[in-house]
Amino acid sequence: MKNLILLGPPGAGKGTQARNLCEAFGFVQLSTGDMLREAKKDQSELGKKVANIMARGELVTDEIVIGLIEKKLTNEENSKGFIFDGFPRTLAQADALRDLLETIGQKLDHVVELYVDDEKLVQRIIGRFTCSSCGELYHKTTKPPKNPSICDICGSKDTFNYRQDDNEDSLKIRLLAYYRDTSPLIGYYHAHNKLRKVNGLGSVDEIQSKIRNILS
Ligand code: AP5
Repeated sequence: MKNLILLGPPGAGKGTQARNLCEAFGFVQLSTGDMLREAKKDQSELGKKVANIMARGELVTDEIVIGLIEKKLTNEENSKGFIFDGFPRTLAQADALRDLLETIGQKLDHVVELYVDDEKLVQRIIGRFTCSSCGELYHKTTKPPKNPSICDICGSKDTFNYRQDDNEDSLKIRLLAYYRDTSPLIGYYHAHNKLRKVNGLGSVDEIQSKIRNILS
């Protein structure tokens, strides 16, 4: 069993790599971004509370995201391990994760930092869209679907969805939040001897193979 954090700025490829690892090895992906978007879609109290914060590109409170992760870690059946995608994002979240893993008798194996320069991040984020039916990620220039209105993976028609926070104004705030609140985790995990750095530029398969080498 392995537990892995994918750390990196918006657009670094955390979600893309996490999905591929889960498919190949049966890990459970815990993406706080996906959980919060799900809550928004369901119009739950939580969803209403976080909608504007997320649209602006700011971070949701530690209390909310730690609560979401706690619920998953204590309820999810899992024998292969967890991939944390977009969590932790603050030092308080990192401490909480350490305590939660300890409570369930597990430990963190690796933290993979995906690094990509800002200019490339903007290009990736601004062209991104997903299939709302199966969650497959696309990009208008680097990974368009074969047919512009049909998902290559699940065959759904007209289900492509653009994220509300994937615009230049929100992205500036998301990047600022990353450098201010999340990048200190690089030093934190380096000090705990967990950090592995992977260049996030290159093909999806090349990066996937570097991460698999770390896991082996
Ligand atoms: P979240 O959903 O976590 O967004 P993010 O961290 O901004 O990351 P992204 O999903 O934008 O990027 P990614 O690294 O997953 O890249 P992807 O694989 O999609 O968070 C959203 C919001 O929720 C936050 O702003 C905050 O408000 C809130 N939130 C979430 N977690 C929180 C927490 N813990 N604490 C507080 N608030 C929280 O790839 C991007 C694009 O690039 C895609 O189009 C993809 O096809 C393409 N691509 C990927 N890899 C490659 C490659 N190698 N080559 C070419 N293109 C590629």
